[in-house]
Amino acid sequence: MNLKSHLLPEELFSTVAKCATKINLDAYVIGGFVRDIILNRPSKDIDFVCVGSGIQLAKRVAQELKSNNLSVFKNFGTAMVKHGAHELEFVGARKESYQRDSRKPIVEDGSLEDDQNRRDFTINALAIKLNDKEYGELVDPFDGVNDLKKKIIRTPLDPSITFSDDPLRMMRAIRFASQLSFDIEADTFDSIIKQADRIKIVSKERIIDELNKIILSPTPSYGFKLLFQSGLLHHIFPEMIALYGVETKEGKSHKDNFYHTLQVLDNISKNTNYLYLRWAAILHDIAKPPTKRFHKKAGWTFHGHEDKGARMVPGIFKRMKLPMNDKMKYVQKLVKLHLRPIALVRDEITDSAIRRLLFEAGDDVDDLMTLCNADITTKNPTKVKRYLTNFKKVKKKLIELEERDKLRNFQPPISGEEIMERYHLEPSKIVGDIKNEIREAILEGKIDNNREQAETLMHEIAKAKGLDN
Ligand code: CTP
Repeated sequence: MNLKSHLLPEELFSTVAKCATKINLDAYVIGGFVRDIILNRPSKDIDFVCVGSGIQLAKRVAQELKSNNLSVFKNFGTAMVKHGAHELEFVGARKESYQRDSRKPIVEDGSLEDDQNRRDFTINALAIKLNDKEYGELVDPFDGVNDLKKKIIRTPLDPSITFSDDPLRMMRAIRFASQLSFDIEADTFDSIIKQADRIKIVSKERIIDELNKIILSPTPSYGFKLLFQSGLLHHIFPEMIALYGVETKEGKSHKDNFYHTLQVLDNISKNTNYLYLRWAAILHDIAKPPTKRFHKKAGWTFHGHEDKGARMVPGIFKRMKLPMNDKMKYVQKLVKLHLRPIALVRDEITDSAIRRLLFEAGDDVDDLMTLCNADITTKNPTKVKRYLTNFKKVKKKLIELEERDKLRNFQPPISGEEIMERYHLEPSKIVGDIKNEIREAILEGKIDNNREQAETLMHEIAKAKGLDN
């Protein structure tokens, strides 16, 4: 197979080829970039491997490209050149396992074959020659192209060796399967099952990178099912395992919340590529197991799972090394509020309930509605229809009220300072009470959300509290 005509940054490759020839090295394009050319997928980072010093080659290429964007990582024997949208990575072929993130320095130089042997998957071990004579020729010792055709993830060596070289590769296998809709070959998957507990030695940061890529894949439930079946999920996300299973008592069963959650995640993934909205879907029912109760009459209940779930979010984010900033707060808010629109529909859709929802959800109200829509997983078409129609009503009301009352980013029409000044008060509970009463009146629709009406009400409240003078 000759890939010459497919090589997009043709000029770039011929420049690297020219430099390699000048310093008398064999150089290759290798790894993900080659895989993605064949799959016709966009890919930004390009890895080059050469038999000799990758750093020397990188320096030469940087010179030739007139790039002053060269970084050298001496310990690892690698170097990077930034060129337009591309990051070009150069490394010398090695016998040791390919561990780009490991702190272990490389010890032994090797041939291209050695290097390919030590890569994670056959589809990631493909190389393209950049020598003058054989320019564009594919080097595919493990039949990786065939695996690409058959849509298979398989390790080049005995999988137990490949995975013990770097246990993160177990997550990577599932990540590629999920991103590309590939199968994992049986021996490779068996080996993951056997070694799943070794994921414990991998840093949380590397694990979450892979997990987030699984979450962002087109049908993330597929990746999660593989994580579950392999046993990896038990190690990295036990709270999700607790969602699994159905319990039956006195003839009453609840739904399997693990599969329900995956369904919600797939549903939401059709409508958003925003990672943290997808995370909200994953976590929306996370507290169902710890709040589960059985009542003789009512059957299974999960009272308060939305509040408890919201309280669980920071701990999960912290342990997984997800960001502890406004993104966490966003997920927490959506988990906390995820039942509200449904509750709204069950009761009557009153203006004040809608105002409260707007007040609490703020700018995230649209995402909340997206989550609630995704949460409809019943197979009963009549129920689906009823929910969707009711949600439409809620949405319409939300828009109407928002236009009128501007509650999305509610700012109290009268500040605490103003109240203190007006009634000569020190900071105290009573100031908060007055503010709350004004806010409640607005949310209940007793007064409009404007300063004039708020001031009149403030005087009344103050008078009733014996403050007005
Ligand atoms: N690699 C490996 N083992 C790892 C990580 C990487 O063997 N644990 C090798 C693979 O050959 C891989 C290449 O290094 O193709 C580049 O790794 P990386 O940039 O992480 O992945 P890509 O395959 O480029 O895919 P993506 O860009 O989607 O992450």
